[in-house]
Amino acid sequence: MSVLVAYYSRTNVTKKVGDEIAGLLDADVEEITSKVNYNGKIGYMRGGKDSISEKIIDLEPLKFNPQDYDLVYLGVPVWAGKAANPMISYIKQNEGKFSNVKFFVTAGGSGFEGTFKQMEDYVGKAPLKTLALKTKEVKNGEFKAKLDSFLE
Ligand SMILES: Cc1cc2nc3c(=O)[nH]c(=O)nc-3n(C[C@H](O)[C@H](O)[C@H](O)COP(=O)(O)O)c2cc1C
Repeated sequence: MSVLVAYYSRTNVTKKVGDEIAGLLDADVEEITSKVNYNGKIGYMRGGKDSISEKIIDLEPLKFNPQDYDLVYLGVPVWAGKAANPMISYIKQNEGKFSNVKFFVTAGGSGFEGTFKQMEDYVGKAPLKTLALKTKEVKNGEFKAKLDSFLE
């Protein structure tokens, strides 16, 4: 089965999970990069505003076509209770190209359910599985114990 792990990560938390999953599954990795600068304090404010308004933005060129994969893992941080808008932009840009999806979401502690729902709406189909992870459990490595059931 061909697997792609596609994630957006501003501060490498979601990236840590995505790279771990890709390593375990020997999957291709698409790290989504935004042309809009969301770094620093101004970027944080912009990210909150753009996620609330579900702003579709330009992304740097992609390496892989999700249509070529049986399963795509989509990973995103919660921004202001929603999916970070670069991931929404990625899904929009690849509309209709996802066969099966699973979602993994990281957040300080809130907004998981709304983010899953929003992702499902944009992809247009229910995920096979979802995984909600707190930033802290990613940083300290505890998240690894939750991967087995998510990946199976
Ligand atoms: C603009 C912005 C808004 C955020 N909003 C939330 C939020 O509503 N709830 C929450 O629990 N964490 C929130 N966070 C924290 C991130 O979701 C969390 O730190 C995440 O693990 C970061 O992942 P990353 O390093 O992959 O970007 C927000 C972070 C940013 C930058």
